[in-house]
Amino acid sequence: MKLIGRVGDGATETGARVILLKDMEREVRSEELVLVRNGGDDNPVNEVIGVLREGLGKNEFLSHNTYRPDIAYLKYGGEPSGAREVYSFKIIPIGVRAENGLEPNKTIIAPRSPVYLLDDLDNPMGLIASKTGGVHYLNAYLEGHENWHVPVLKEYITYHVGVFGSTGSGKSWLAKYVLSRLYHECGYRVLILDWSGTDYTPLFQEKTISIQEIQLDTSSIFSYLSDVTLNFGGNNSLRDAFEEFLEEWHDEVKKTGADPYQLYEKMKSKISSKLESIKREDYKEGARRAFRRAFKRLMPETLKPLMGNTSIEELLHRLDREKTLVIDMGGVTSSSKLSFFLALGSELYRLMDMGENINTALVVDEAPQYAPWEPRGIQVETTEMIKNLAALGRKRGLNLTLISQGIRGEIGINAAVRRNLNTYFIGRIHPLDASGEGGAAEWLEPYGVRAEQLLQLKPGRFYISGIMNPSPIPLLLTFNPGE
Ligand SMILES: Nc1ncnc2c1ncn2[C@@H]1O[C@H](COP(=O)(O)OP(=O)(O)OP(=O)(O)O)[C@@H](O)[C@H]1O
Ligand SMILES: [Mg+2]
Repeated sequence: MKLIGRVGDGATETGARVILLKDMEREVRSEELVLVRNGGDDNPVNEVIGVLREGLGKNEFLSHNTYRPDIAYLKYGGEPSGAREVYSFKIIPIGVRAENGLEPNKTIIAPRSPVYLLDDLDNPMGLIASKTGGVHYLNAYLEGHENWHVPVLKEYITYHVGVFGSTGSGKSWLAKYVLSRLYHECGYRVLILDWSGTDYTPLFQEKTISIQEIQLDTSSIFSYLSDVTLNFGGNNSLRDAFEEFLEEWHDEVKKTGADPYQLYEKMKSKISSKLESIKREDYKEGARRAFRRAFKRLMPETLKPLMGNTSIEELLHRLDREKTLVIDMGGVTSSSKLSFFLALGSELYRLMDMGENINTALVVDEAPQYAPWEPRGIQVETTEMIKNLAALGRKRGLNLTLISQGIRGEIGINAAVRRNLNTYFIGRIHPLDASGEGGAAEWLEPYGVRAEQLLQLKPGRFYISGIMNPSPIPLLLTFNPGE
């Protein structure tokens, strides 16, 4: 522990500024943790642990909007004196050192109190963690201190997690190397949905299963066909005919040897003959038109992702054995990805509804594909499904980890779903999230993290904020991939 400065004027119980000793500005950085001996080294009132943010360098003689001799000197190429320079950081208190861990600070931090920089030997993470029982240390550390592993409260894993950051900010890596490991170590089965099949599949090769191998339930197939045919051309008779055909779907798949071309022809002729049996001529004509429209969009290839024969139940059994599984969702259309999600979601929901504790973490990368700001078509159902899973999951051992480039608005996650996420990992943000209501900046600015900083974070740097974070103040963490 090293003395770096003293508390300056205007300190309160929730914030203070440390005025740095000479030359300390060269080594003290924001996001470092400090200890304030509140009231002085002898007989301090308490010891406040805080994080440094909002650094400031002042030299009033160099004010750019008034004219002073120093400015004149500078103007002609001279180097003005630094004697009147003041460097300071804001200290955001995390808590007061107490018998078992940290307590909220309630006393005013006294100006003049000495401020110490915590170094690797005084690992404060234990202090931050110790007040509650169920703590787990992440495979991630406070930036700059590799042995300060960041603690999280295990009991809130099922209160769901959001990971946010613009493209390339390291979200998928955080999910791979830090979060899936956390869930695994805390006894959860981890099921990762790899939207494009490129982010996780290479790392979890043997634990990958392709979406095309999985058998969908008929209601998910129905949603898929409805999505592809634009709600069956808006025709009820056609919808009924499809629905009737779906009753024999799995048998037909077997009979045709899972050949989409054969199945397609069979489906087409069965549906067509059903429509031909309509009595009223005008109804029949309408249905024929809808039929032509629908089959213009529906191709034999469109049925390919519906030929799988691994049932969702078998998938979950395999998850039981392997503990971690990645679904490679590459190579099929968005609608079939989403219909798979519906099938998976309904099975998980069914199990939980029957009272089962499913101990599963479902990592959903590219979450706005499932639950966008304004859901359309099948997304209306997937959004609703995520909302329902989130609500029931809290009591039944389901964690949802939703990964998204943006928090709100067009690039973000549906607001109703977002309300169910209680822990946030926020990396480098998209400029659209930098300001305004509900954006990342609004979340972090009260803690002294500026929007500009969020726009510039390096890949793999995330603020952890929310219920799982035992520190009331968001902390900046990073991790070494591949560990
Ligand atoms: N902890 C880290 N340390 C060093 N580099 C990292 C770290 N995390 C991520 N990166 C770098 O950032 C790159 C992008 O990471 P990643 O693919 O996880 O981004 P992403 O946020 O998921 O992007 P997208 O939104 O496009 O999917 C990685 O290829 C890697 O080079
Ligand atoms: Mg990614």
